[in-house]
Amino acid sequence: MKKLMDMEILENIRIAKDVYRMKLRGEELCFSEMMAGCFLNIKVGTGSELLLRRPISIFDADEKEKTLSIIYKVVGRGTERMSGIKSGDLLNVLGPLGQGFPIQDESGRVLLVGGGVGVPPLYELGKKLKAKGMEVTTVLGFRDEESIFLREDFERLGPLYIATEDGSYGTEGYVTDAIREMDPSFDTLYACGPKAMLRTLDERYAQIKKGFLSFEERMACGIGACYGCMTETKAGLKRVCKDGPVFRLGEMKYDSVL
Ligand SMILES: Cc1cc2nc3c(=O)[nH]c(=O)nc-3n(C[C@H](O)[C@H](O)[C@H](O)COP(=O)(O)OP(=O)(O)OC[C@H]3O[C@@H](n4cnc5c(N)ncnc54)[C@H](O)[C@@H]3O)c2cc1C
Ligand code: FES
Repeated sequence: MKKLMDMEILENIRIAKDVYRMKLRGEELCFSEMMAGCFLNIKVGTGSELLLRRPISIFDADEKEKTLSIIYKVVGRGTERMSGIKSGDLLNVLGPLGQGFPIQDESGRVLLVGGGVGVPPLYELGKKLKAKGMEVTTVLGFRDEESIFLREDFERLGPLYIATEDGSYGTEGYVTDAIREMDPSFDTLYACGPKAMLRTLDERYAQIKKGFLSFEERMACGIGACYGCMTETKAGLKRVCKDGPVFRLGEMKYDSVL
């Protein structure tokens, strides 16, 4: 069950350029509903600019310790405020929210594709898929070498390819360029990142592969009540926060996002 609760900050550290990892503890956290790809809606402050909660994916969770971690990039006032939070402070969160990545029971090869702040939820997913015996290959995209995070973590899951926009590390360009260059074999695709990246993957693979894509739409309530995150899918209008953020490969309509 999703809960509104104050969580204690255990750690909030910088792990790459403008990127922070925050560890939080909350006795009331509901772990049974926490799929990889679910998110928290976080109250970051007061005042008109900070009125809306900010959605951030759950990076990993530890049911025994009642803790979870998030990884976020400072892009505006809300995330800037988060980066100043100290250990021992309390943060009001609503979660876990949304439909995460379904984990298929069959064996096979999976390709994880993440761009920028779409990278964190894929790690928990990758750990679960590997534990089920699946072969995991990952392709991640970042702006430049200084922005890369979780490299060693993903390397532990299997082959990892990285693309940077300025070519300072790995393939120069986007994840889609690295995929074209490496041409990895896979049966199921899981991806999270900017809409342009997801659209390219959808156009390339929807007819030939199974897969799931997680979308990062602007949100308000995060619980399906305000209809502020509506998007058009082939099955009609859906709320990204409640019906998603994970949708099946081939499900989204891109021309008419509201
Ligand atoms: C389901 C979901 C999961 C997310 N998980 C993560 C995560 O794990 N780590 C992380 O760093 N970020 C994540 N995001 C994006 C994060 O919510 C935004 O970066 C954050 O809300 C920005 O707040 P701000 O006040 O700092 O920036 P603002 O001042 O609100 O915006 C700054 C810039 O970021 C853009 N932006 C703001 N919100 C979003 C959004 N929701 N989607 C796309 N662009 C946005 C704005 O257009 C603007 O250009 C997620 C978003 C969603 C919907
Ligand atoms: S953010 Fe309110 S319905 Fe999705």
